[in-house]
Amino acid sequence: MSIGIVGAGAVGSAIATVLARAGIAAKIVNRRGPAVLGPLAASLMPQVTVGTREEVLAADIVFVAVPWGRLDEALAGGDWQGRIVVDCVPGARLVKAFNHMLPHLVAGDPRAEGGRRVLFMAGDDAAAKAEIGALIDRIGFYRIDLGGLREGGRMIEFPGGPLPALNLVVFD
Ligand SMILES: NC(=O)c1ccc[n+]([C@@H]2O[C@H](COP(=O)([O-])OP(=O)(O)OC[C@H]3O[C@@H](n4cnc5c(N)ncnc54)[C@H](OP(=O)(O)O)[C@@H]3O)[C@@H](O)[C@H]2O)c1
Repeated sequence: MSIGIVGAGAVGSAIATVLARAGIAAKIVNRRGPAVLGPLAASLMPQVTVGTREEVLAADIVFVAVPWGRLDEALAGGDWQGRIVVDCVPGARLVKAFNHMLPHLVAGDPRAEGGRRVLFMAGDDAAAKAEIGALIDRIGFYRIDLGGLREGGRMIEFPGGPLPALNLVVFD
């Protein structure tokens, strides 16, 4: 499965960091181009590389990490029908995850505190959730499936839900 990340700010770079650390290949894109990514891009090589918008939007799994106001321009031209998207696009097989945790904890070692840091997910498409769940397992977090988007998604709504910004660790 190819992975694309749209947005390379606090959230996008945290996701890129944790994928790169687990040896998982991905392409990332920002708005102002590779020049402003500088040291970040270098630190993610060779697993995560800077791609074109077209390459990133064509990936099998697309992480959306841009501010709401930029969503339309960032995702314009993508064909989302049936695609796996981590965050929020009509027509896509949406999984909500990676949004409830502060970026430095997403980027940090999930086992750093002697257990496994909890990462919640929610979604209505079981197969898409299985793909993202496998990815979460592979990068070392303790995955908790909160169920569908309506109920589970609300729990990790940021801001508003009760779970965002908690740093929860499971000790096996
Ligand atoms: N920060 C948090 O703690 C946190 C936690 C949970 C959820 N969120 C949500 O996650 C989203 C991203 O937050 P953030 O803190 O990562 O924002 P951020 O640090 O401001 O980064 C936003 C990124 O989006 C990129 N971008 C903007 N327009 C784009 C476009 N048209 N095409 C491609 N990339 C584009 C920007 O590119 P440039 O670098 O070139 O400007 C930048 O890399 C927001 O919706 C936020 O509400 C944030």
